[in-house]
Amino acid sequence: MNTYMNTNMNTNMNTNMNTNMNTNMNTNMNTNMNTNMNTNMNTNMNTNMNTNMNINNLKIYMERLKKNNINNHKYKFSQRWFIGSDIQINLEIFLDKSKENNILEIGCFEGLSSVFFADNFLDNKNSSLTCVDPFLNINNNDHCEYLQNNEEMNFDFNISTCKNSDKIKVYKITSDEFFKNNNKTYNLIYIDGSHNIDIIKKDMENSFNCLEKNGIMWMDDYRGGDGIKIKNTMDEFLEKHKGQYKLILSAYQLAIIKI
Ligand SMILES: C[S@@+](CC[C@H](N)C(=O)[O-])C[C@H]1O[C@@H](n2cnc3c(N)ncnc32)[C@H](O)[C@@H]1O
Repeated sequence: MNTYMNTNMNTNMNTNMNTNMNTNMNTNMNTNMNTNMNTNMNTNMNTNMNTNMNINNLKIYMERLKKNNINNHKYKFSQRWFIGSDIQINLEIFLDKSKENNILEIGCFEGLSSVFFADNFLDNKNSSLTCVDPFLNINNNDHCEYLQNNEEMNFDFNISTCKNSDKIKVYKITSDEFFKNNNKTYNLIYIDGSHNIDIIKKDMENSFNCLEKNGIMWMDDYRGGDGIKIKNTMDEFLEKHKGQYKLILSAYQLAIIKI
């Protein structure tokens, strides 16, 4: 049963939530929630089997959101892109929290995704998280407009504050530089770095090379705001590697398991 889910949540007195769910039972749900003392909710449901997503399903879904939520008071964040992302909501379906997980993350920013991995998936004594982000150590960082204040300091603070911080290794270099010297393999790789097409191509190829069999490669921005170019690049990768992976999610984000 495939589940396609696209969720976006932002809480700060305001809660905006946009949820897109598509299952093999063909249940499509589009939820938009906006809370600012007022709560507006707009739900759109469409099912082949005429299955309505009832309020119980919604409750279960909200519980999962809450469970995987980030403790906002403990950390320092200026952006909350990760909250409600497909990976935040769905990863526990695919990744066993108690097993040894070796996670590679490309593009960390303030570490919102990093602390999510560390707080939830590194409890096994052999688990590790490898974070790769050059911050402003390069002069062509395509995210430089977001990195003008204390974002790198926030990252340092957040990953030293989170659970399992001793299992995190940080490389403040580009993904390209990182892969040149990397000889470790990973069972989860989260790609959320540069939006440059050539870099995305390399990130996907390099990541797939060091992904273990049955390992998960999860990409952000597949259907992102940069238009069709990221999706096309990722689709080319899927076409090229047909037969070498199983598609597990195709929503705002894209995720595959190496076979
Ligand atoms: C969208 S942000 C990451 C957000 C983070 N994963 C989260 O969920 O909060 C993208 C990050 O990619 C980093 N980046 C840009 N070029 C990169 C490269 N060549 N290699 C690795 N990271 C890169 C940027 O510095 C920025 O911090």
